[in-house]
Amino acid sequence: MMQLTKEDGAILAGKRGEAARKSMEILVALGDIYGAKDLVDVASVQVAGVSYHNLGDAGLEFLSELAKDGQVKVLTTLNPAGMDLENWKALGISEDFAKKQNLVIDAFRKMGIITCCTCTPYLAGNLPTFGQHLAWSESSAVTFANSIIGARTNREGGPSALAAAIIGKTPAYGLHLDENRKPVVHVEVQAKIRTMPDWGALGYAIGKKAEGKVPYITGLQPASTDELKSFCASVVTYGGAPLFHIPGITPEASQHKQPAQKITITEADIADAKKAIDDPVNEIEFVCLGCPHCSIDEVAKIAALLKGKKVKAEFWVAASRNTKALADSRGYSAIIEAAGGKWACDTCLAVAPLKGRFKSVATTSAKGCFYCRGSNAMATRMGTVEQCINAAITGRWA
Ligand code: F3S
Repeated sequence: MMQLTKEDGAILAGKRGEAARKSMEILVALGDIYGAKDLVDVASVQVAGVSYHNLGDAGLEFLSELAKDGQVKVLTTLNPAGMDLENWKALGISEDFAKKQNLVIDAFRKMGIITCCTCTPYLAGNLPTFGQHLAWSESSAVTFANSIIGARTNREGGPSALAAAIIGKTPAYGLHLDENRKPVVHVEVQAKIRTMPDWGALGYAIGKKAEGKVPYITGLQPASTDELKSFCASVVTYGGAPLFHIPGITPEASQHKQPAQKITITEADIADAKKAIDDPVNEIEFVCLGCPHCSIDEVAKIAALLKGKKVKAEFWVAASRNTKALADSRGYSAIIEAAGGKWACDTCLAVAPLKGRFKSVATTSAKGCFYCRGSNAMATRMGTVEQCINAAITGRWA
C-alpha cells in the first residue's frame, strides 16, 4: 500500500471536496497497482482525452461532474481537441459536434486548465526542466519530455493525468524512478538518417526491434528539435519505450553505460519501414502537416513552399494557437490561406472526426500514417514537406 501524508489522507476522506476525493482515489488505486511507495509532486500536467470524438457523452459527463468543484494545482495544458476551436466550420465540422466539443473545453477551463490544445506543449509555454516530475499523457510529448528534456513522466491516461493535476502529485513508479530509466539495449544505427521520413522510419524500425526496452542509440548525426519530435512520435507509436538515450543529444545519456545487448538498424530496415508505413496510392485527397504539431520553423518552410501556389487537395497545417499567432505576425498565415490551405489549430488528423471524408492522406509523419490508416481508414503516403506540398498542389503523389 502507498504511504500517504496526513494531508493526502484527509483529501481522500473528502476534505477538499468530491473532485479532489475522486482524484486521490484514482491516484491511490494506480499507485497500489504499480507498487508505488508514495506520491511525488509534479511540476506540470498535460491531459489527453480532449476530443469529443473519443470522449463521447460518457466522457463529457465525467468531466462536467469533476468540474463542479475540481481545481488544478499545477500548470496544466491539453492535448489536441476534435476541432479547431475557432476555425471549425472551415474544417467541415458539424454544429452538433462543435457544441459538444465546446462543452468539453468549458469543463476543462472551469477547472483552471489552460485550454491550449497541443501535443507539443513544450513549444507553447508548458516547458519542463531536467529532472522535474510530470504527469503528461500524449505519447510523443511524454517521449520528448523524458528523452530530450530529461524530465520524468509515465504515459498517463486522461483520467490519471487530470487526477494528478487536481492533486498536484502522481504515484512514484515507472519512469519516475532511476532504475527504470537505464538503457537496456544498444541500438547501432548504420543507416543514414537525413529527412523527416527517415526519422519516422527509424522510429518504426527501433519500435519494432527494441520491443519496448529503453534504447541507447548510437550512429546518429546531430538532429533538429523538429526531427527529434518526429522521432519521438514514431518510436513510441510503433511499440518503443517512451524514453531513449542518444549520446551527445539527450541529457541523461552520459549517466549511463552502453548496454551489452545490441541490435543494428540498417538501410534495409529503413527501406522496409517506409514500405510498411506507405500505401501505393497515387491520388491524394488530403494533406496534413503538423504531426506532432508544427513549430514556427516548420510553418515558415511551408509558407515558403506554398507562396504564389494553389492547393487542389484539402490542406491542413496543424499547430498550437500560440504557433499560429507567431505565424500571423510574420505573414505566413496569409500566404498559407491565399494558397487555399487551412489552419487546424487545437486539433489534428488523428482526433478530428475525419472517418469517411478522405480516401487518402499525405503527411511527413509516420505516426500520422498509423492513425490515418488505423482509425480513419485512409491510404497513407509519408514524404518530405516538399513532396507533401507538391501532392497538395497537384492532388497526386510523385
Ligand atoms: Fe499530435 Fe495528433 Fe500527431 S496528437 S503527435 S498531431 S496524431
